[in-house]
Amino acid sequence: TKRISTKIAEIPLASFIFNASGPRCTEEDELNLLGTSASAAIMTKSCTMEPREGNAEPRYQALPYGSIQSMGLPNLGYKAYLEMLPRLKQAGKPIVVSISGFSLADNLTMVKAFQTSCADLIEVNFSCPNIEGKAQVGYDFEQTERALEQLCELGSKPIGLKLPPYFDFSHFNTMANIIKKFPVSFITCINSVGNTLVIDPETESAIIKPKGGFGGLCGDYIKPIGLANVRAFSQLLPSSIDIIGVGGIKTGTDAFEYLLAGASAVQVATCFEKEGVECFDRIAKELDSIMAAKQYSSIAAVKGKLKMI
Ligand code: DOR
Repeated sequence: TKRISTKIAEIPLASFIFNASGPRCTEEDELNLLGTSASAAIMTKSCTMEPREGNAEPRYQALPYGSIQSMGLPNLGYKAYLEMLPRLKQAGKPIVVSISGFSLADNLTMVKAFQTSCADLIEVNFSCPNIEGKAQVGYDFEQTERALEQLCELGSKPIGLKLPPYFDFSHFNTMANIIKKFPVSFITCINSVGNTLVIDPETESAIIKPKGGFGGLCGDYIKPIGLANVRAFSQLLPSSIDIIGVGGIKTGTDAFEYLLAGASAVQVATCFEKEGVECFDRIAKELDSIMAAKQYSSIAAVKGKLKMI
C-alpha cells in the first residue's frame, strides 16, 4: 500500500522491502521471479569482471537463528547482467545492480558500463568478506576515499555503497566524513559480519569449507549490529543520503525497527533464502499492519523517529 511506499535516491519504490544482493538473485530465472514477486526492486547478485563459480562447498549452512556462508561471489560476470537488464526491466520495477570488483580498475569498468544501462541504482560492494587475500575495502578508509574520487565521476546514475558493519564510533565518524565528500546517493548497511567461526562439537569440525571455516554471519544474530549501523549513519549523514537497512529482517516488526533507526528501505537476505519470494509480500503486509495499528500513514512519519530513554 501507499503507506509503505518509499524512495531511494529519488527512485520510487512501491514498498519498503526488497531483496539483498546475496541469495536467489544470480540467475536470470531467479531475477525474473523477483520481478513478479512483491519485492520492491530487483537487486542483482554482486558481479565481477568474469563469471565465477565461487568458493568450494559446503559454503552455506543454515543455523537456528540465521546462517553462515562463504559463497565467494558466484555470479555470471557483469556482461551477462548488462545484457539481461532490458529484459528484467519489463517487470516494471526499479533495478539495482550490485558490483564487486577485485580492484578499483574493475569497479571503474563495471560502474562505467552500468552508468549507460537501464539500471536505476548502482550499489558498489565495499564489504565482501569471503575472498581469500582480498581485504574488505570498507575497512580501509584511504582506499575507500580514493575509490570514491573516481567512481562518483562516471555518470549521473545514483551510486550507493554496501558497507561492512562497524563497531566503533571512530569508524562511523571516519566513514561518514568520507562519504560526505562525494555525491554518494545511498548506503546499504550492513553486509554480513565477516570472518566468524561456527564449530560443530559433535564432528569437532568447522561447518563450511572455505577459508578454514571462517565465514559471514547472517540473520537474527546480526540484527542489533545492522540497527546500530543504520542509526549511527543516519545521525552522521545528511538526510539527502538514503540508508538501506539489512541484517536479520524477517518480520514486519524487524522492518519497523530499521525504519525507526532511520532506514529509507530494507533488504532481506537470509529470510529470503529460507522462505523464498513469498517473504516480501508477508513482511510488507506485516509492516503495513503495524503502521496502520499505530496510525502512521507514511514511511516519512516514522523514519528515524527512534526515541531515547
Ligand atoms: O557475505 C557476503 N557473501 N557478502 C558479500 O558481499 C558477498 C557474498 C559472497 O558471495 O561471498
